[in-house]
Amino acid sequence: MTLIELCSESDLDHNEARRFTVNGTDIALFRVEDNYFALDDLCSHGPGSLSEGFLDGFNIECDFHNGAFDIRTGEVTEPPCVDPVRSYPVTKKDGKVFIELDG
Ligand code: FES
Repeated sequence: MTLIELCSESDLDHNEARRFTVNGTDIALFRVEDNYFALDDLCSHGPGSLSEGFLDGFNIECDFHNGAFDIRTGEVTEPPCVDPVRSYPVTKKDGKVFIELDG
């Protein structure tokens, strides 16, 4: 397991999302209150970027066709999406935000 630093906790405000590229993969990082969640940025339904979607609580709505996912798990919450997106464990340490990658 490898920890990858994405940013400082203060880089995102509550209810904000941002995209990071890690090893060639775009990751969407979301902040809700003082909690952070990370998903693959690419929507499983098409070319939508989840970090550019509409965040409402723990729900991220893709702005392409309005499908949605739970940012805590990557599970689908609204069609037309069918397949979940990958979710990454997030760790906070010394004011920084990290995701855990396999390997
Ligand atoms: S590309 Fe995201 S809902 Fe279609």
